[in-house]
Amino acid sequence: MDKAVSEASKSAVKVRPERFATGVGVLMATLGSAVGLGNIWKFPYLTGANGGAAFLIVYLLCTVLVGFPIMVAEQMIGRKGRADAVTSFKKISPKTLWWLVGASGVLAAFVIMAYYTEVAGWVFAYIAKSFQSGLMTTDATVTSAAFGQLVSNPWLSLVVQWIVLAVVGVIIVLGVTKGIEATTKKLLPVLALLLVVIGIRSLTLPGASAGLAFLFKPDFSKLTAQAIMVALGLAFFKLSIGMGAMLTYGSYYGEDQNIPANAARVVGADLAVSLLAGVAIFPAVFAFGFEPAAGAQLLFITIPTVFASMPFGQVFMVLFFVLTAFAAIGAMLSLVEVVVAFLVNRTKLNRTQATLVTVLAMALVGSMCALSNSSMADFKLFGMTMFDLFDYVSSNILLPVGGLLMAVFATWVWGWPNFKAALSNEGTLANEKLLKVVFNILRFVSPVLVLLILLTGLKIVNIG
Ligand code: PFF
Repeated sequence: MDKAVSEASKSAVKVRPERFATGVGVLMATLGSAVGLGNIWKFPYLTGANGGAAFLIVYLLCTVLVGFPIMVAEQMIGRKGRADAVTSFKKISPKTLWWLVGASGVLAAFVIMAYYTEVAGWVFAYIAKSFQSGLMTTDATVTSAAFGQLVSNPWLSLVVQWIVLAVVGVIIVLGVTKGIEATTKKLLPVLALLLVVIGIRSLTLPGASAGLAFLFKPDFSKLTAQAIMVALGLAFFKLSIGMGAMLTYGSYYGEDQNIPANAARVVGADLAVSLLAGVAIFPAVFAFGFEPAAGAQLLFITIPTVFASMPFGQVFMVLFFVLTAFAAIGAMLSLVEVVVAFLVNRTKLNRTQATLVTVLAMALVGSMCALSNSSMADFKLFGMTMFDLFDYVSSNILLPVGGLLMAVFATWVWGWPNFKAALSNEGTLANEKLLKVVFNILRFVSPVLVLLILLTGLKIVNIG
């Protein structure tokens, strides 16, 4: 290990001068990472494509039994290591290969950003589109065509992605507390409120109850091994875990921060936003006769119809896409931060240079996803476009494997005494019973579940 790093472990503050300034700031920044396109775009479309309520129940189980404990472990590793994903592992477990978990996280950040920036680009484009009245229609063919026009235009797809990356880059350069806290703090409650308004309109549409039944009345015969794997992947993706984002944010937490309590609030709030998005979208899907399994375009073709059928719809639509863009930015900040923190700690680059390098590299890799619906539509690997492949590999392989290894590290390598000391803030929090439960779930339940689901989902093991 290099000298700077071992010196830093004596005085952690040297490497990480940045801290989230307040408890609320911690909660909001972490929530800012979790809440994003995963809630508004991915959760509804995957729930729709995988049969609704039964998928939702599996997703909930994955969130409680796998997502929450791994989030706690990951933040703990970050706060202990007080560094980026790779360096934290090197400090806590010197002369081992555990740092590779952090390295896979840095890779995952690229893979996710490659397509996430494109979806964020669609959201940006829809802000502009929603100023034109053409989108204000309940005619499905018109809204589908509008989406098709956007994604099949290669230059437009690239430009919106570059705009997204430029915006994120600028915020990152402004620094951790100023940039991230200030942006996320104010906007999430407004987004939640707007989703409630949309949900009420959606629920009062004629025929809306079929959408509620789809979302909340389970039919387990629809559940496949593949769908279970997708639910697990979604849980990881949703909570930003398994790739070092929560680890990196944990490294900015104060020593007095109650990690399990904060994580519980984040998981709960994140779930609430996803459910609100579901209630906003599915009643409308059924009321207007859309296909719930429409896939990645679901949000963009259904949401305009809801707005078209409400008073001041156009104003609300602009507001909706603006707030969704902010939510996406909060999530992307944490993804880029994983790479930037790594580069700042382990290379000679300063923060600004590291951000520039990261953003440019992401634009390069991301272009393959941006062009997946146009110039590169026929370029497929394993039968998937680059957009789908990057999504598949990150959610279904990199994040679950990363999370699995973090759970194993925290419980089998790091061990109970360290775990307890770190998460009770050296005994100042009276939470031993809770910690014991989380520890045992992490030790015995989460890794086995992840392994089993992955092996069956990837068809390596055949159950039943
Ligand atoms: N959790 C974010 C969302 O649901 O949109 C996406 C995400 C952010 C995934 C950060 C992974 C990550 F590290």
